[in-house]
Amino acid sequence: MSNVQTTMQNYQAPESLLQGKTILVTGAGDGIGRVAAITYAAHGATVILTGRTVEKLEKVYDEIEQAGGPQPAIYPIDFNGAIDDDYQQLANIIDSNFGQLDGVLHNAAQLGQMGPIESSHTGTWMQLMQVNVNAPYLLTRHLMPLLRAADNASIIFTSSSVGRQGRAYWGAYAASKFAIEGLMQTLADELENVSNIRSNSLNPGATNTAMRRLAYPSERPTNNPSPEQLMPCYLYLMGNDSLAVNGQALDAQKK
Ligand SMILES: NC(=O)c1ccc[n+]([C@@H]2O[C@H](COP(=O)([O-])OP(=O)(O)OC[C@H]3O[C@@H](n4cnc5c(N)ncnc54)[C@H](OP(=O)(O)O)[C@@H]3O)[C@@H](O)[C@H]2O)c1
Repeated sequence: MSNVQTTMQNYQAPESLLQGKTILVTGAGDGIGRVAAITYAAHGATVILTGRTVEKLEKVYDEIEQAGGPQPAIYPIDFNGAIDDDYQQLANIIDSNFGQLDGVLHNAAQLGQMGPIESSHTGTWMQLMQVNVNAPYLLTRHLMPLLRAADNASIIFTSSSVGRQGRAYWGAYAASKFAIEGLMQTLADELENVSNIRSNSLNPGATNTAMRRLAYPSERPTNNPSPEQLMPCYLYLMGNDSLAVNGQALDAQKK
């Protein structure tokens, strides 16, 4: 295991780790994204909650407010139908409210249709690529000026074990996560030494969420860690203790 990985998995974040930072989380209404948003706010961040189901985002908003965290912002967006202009509009709103952005957690994704490539449905494949690959690409591109405006900024791309080693029947989902690794590596290489932005990928590993339960319906959900148990990694990569970490494909769980 790499040193970074050990440090990250055993990380104990100071309470004020993200004080003064503004962080955007995609898929913030459920699963890992929901817990990451709440955790970032608990460590001082102003969190921009994006996702497609407004009621879920509102619940997260209320939870953060009730816990006394900095007032979050909600920006509903369905990555399936969003176009260039929608991402630019989001960037404009962040610009006028905050003037900069200190971090992005690309977390939203869909599992899509599992099964052999040969019998996969073209429309389903395209839709999954739209949500899992094109959306993080478009969002990153439109947010770059705001990330550059920060003292330093962290982009976390969410990967998967099947984004590092292909596996039968994981279809478009596996291909989309390989693409995410490629996007992360390319960006990290471009930005190395020429900017204050770092970019890494994080594979949460099997985690007790709706997506995992959908992929493994016969598994006992509580056999897997909860999103809360992964948060040391999400905090480490978002906070200033990971300033030197760039271009790495990391795992939130020990293998
Ligand atoms: N759980 C695991 O075992 C596991 C393992 C490896 C990797 N991952 C990765 O970890 C990340 C989080 O997964 P999770 O398990 O927390 O999944 P989840 O519980 O299904 O949550 C996914 C989130 O993405 C949002 N989302 C889905 N489609 C969207 C769209 N078209 N536009 C905008 N938002 C959309 C969902 O919004 P709604 O709430 O509105 O549906 C939801 O908030 C994903 O990138 C996943 O691939 C998870």
